[in-house]
Amino acid sequence: MSHKRKHSHRAALRDAEASPHAAPMCEFTADMSVGIVTLDADHMAIFEIAKLLLDTPHNPEHALVLSSVIAVLEEAVDGHFLREERAMRKAGYPRLVDHRRKHEKFRAHLKTVAEAYLQGTTSVVDGLPSFVSRWFSDHIRTKDSKYKDWVTSSAVDDRPLAFLSMEAEDSRQ
Ligand SMILES: [Fe+2]
Ligand SMILES: [Fe+2]
Repeated sequence: MSHKRKHSHRAALRDAEASPHAAPMCEFTADMSVGIVTLDADHMAIFEIAKLLLDTPHNPEHALVLSSVIAVLEEAVDGHFLREERAMRKAGYPRLVDHRRKHEKFRAHLKTVAEAYLQGTTSVVDGLPSFVSRWFSDHIRTKDSKYKDWVTSSAVDDRPLAFLSMEAEDSRQ
């Protein structure tokens, strides 16, 4: 192990010890579980995509990969929000309207970033992984966690995320 790697490994351990409750960047942690496998899997997938965005070099040579990953992120988010909103409606969750508003706000922001990127403001991608990671960490803990007592797995459409993404797209056309 090189000196540099040894150092960064030690630094990572130190950070983890210093803040055991802070979620590492772009990582799903056990305390985020909403107790429903399909919804947890969606959340994990979104963190994975954010991580991919973080790990892909932000330079012109990777522009095609970056724009594809942003598109995949938008699809995953749309599909997940649709799945969650349908489940909340089916379960009669009383805070659906407010929850949906939070989803819409996030979607609108993501759309603005994606459009700016495609129009050439490539620097917008730099802050995207941390924005997605922070927003989802907070949203899952403070909003999604509240439907735990209402939504059971029988209310959740458990088809693959790609199907929900397609339906989300169809419903907006
Ligand atoms: Fe949500
Ligand atoms: Fe969610």
